[in-house]
Amino acid sequence: GNQLQQSEKMAAIGQLAAGVAHEINNPIGFVNSNLGTLQRYIADLFKVISSYEQAESELTPQTRSNLAEIKRQIDLNYLREDSESLLVESLEGMLRVKHIVQDLKDFAHVDETDKQWANLEKGMDSTLNVVWNELKYKTEVIKEYAGIVDIECIPSQINQVFMNLLMNAVQAIDKHGRITVRTGQEDQKVWIEVQDTGKGIKSEHLSRIFEPFFTTKPVGKGTGLGLSLSYGIVSKHNGRIEVSSEEGKGTTFRVWLPISQPAEG
Ligand SMILES: Nc1ncnc2c1ncn2[C@@H]1O[C@H](COP(=O)(O)OP(=O)(O)OP(=O)(O)O)[C@@H](O)[C@H]1O
Ligand SMILES: [Mg+2]
Repeated sequence: GNQLQQSEKMAAIGQLAAGVAHEINNPIGFVNSNLGTLQRYIADLFKVISSYEQAESELTPQTRSNLAEIKRQIDLNYLREDSESLLVESLEGMLRVKHIVQDLKDFAHVDETDKQWANLEKGMDSTLNVVWNELKYKTEVIKEYAGIVDIECIPSQINQVFMNLLMNAVQAIDKHGRITVRTGQEDQKVWIEVQDTGKGIKSEHLSRIFEPFFTTKPVGKGTGLGLSLSYGIVSKHNGRIEVSSEEGKGTTFRVWLPISQPAEG
C-alpha cells in the first residue's frame, strides 16, 4: 500500500544520499590533502623570499627600486598574511563538508537494512544535523541524554522516526520555541523523547494522529504520513510510541524500544 511506497521512496532517497556522499568523499580527500601541502609550500616560499630580502642591500639601486615597486604593486606584506588565512579558512570549509558528508552517511545507513546494534543518541545527533537547517532559526534544541546502551534495530528506519518527530515538533512551533530531546533506560527497554513548546494537539485529534493521511496541515505542507509510518517502524521493532500534549503548551512524543529483538525478527 501507500506506506510501503513511502518507505521505498525513503530508501531510494537514502541510497541517493549515500551515493552522493560517497562520490564527494573522494575529491574532499585530495582537496584536503592538497591544501595541507600547499600550506607548507607557501610557508617555504615566504621563507625563501625573506632570505632574499636580507640580501637586497647588496643589489644595485636600480634593481632595488624595481623590486620595491613590484612589492608595492602586489602588496607583499598583505599577501603574506592573507594567503595563510585563506588556506586556514579553506581547510576549515573542507572539514565542514567532510562532517556534512559523514552525517549524511550516518543518517542514511544505506547498506544496512538488517538489524544491528546502534546507539539512539548517536542516531538522534546525526538526524538533528540533517534537519538542522529547518530547526536553527525557530528553535533552541536542548539535549538531556542519559547515556543509554546500544540497542538492536535498523538504524536508518529509527532515524526516519526521529526525523518525523523533529519535523512535527518544529512545524508545531509558531515563531520561536524549544525542542528538548531526552533519553532514558528502564529494565530491558530504552526510551527517547522529543518535547516541543508548540501549539499542542487538540484532544479530539489525539486518537487520530497515527492514522495514515490524518493531517491538520495545509495542502502541500503535510501528507499525514509521518506518524503512521513512524508507528509502523516502531511496531516492527516491538516498541511503542506514547504521546502527551496540552493545547497551547506543547507536545511530547516518547518512543520505547526493547534493547534486544527476539531471535526471529
Ligand atoms: N509535535 C506536534 N505538535 C502538534 N501537532 C502534532 C505534532 N505531531 C503531530 N501533530 C499532529 O498530528 C498530525 C499528523 O502528523 P503526521 O506527522 O502523521 O503528519 P503531518 O506532519 O501532518 O504530515 P507529514 O508528516 O506527512 O509531512 C499533524 O498534522 C498534526 O496535527
Ligand atoms: Mg509529520
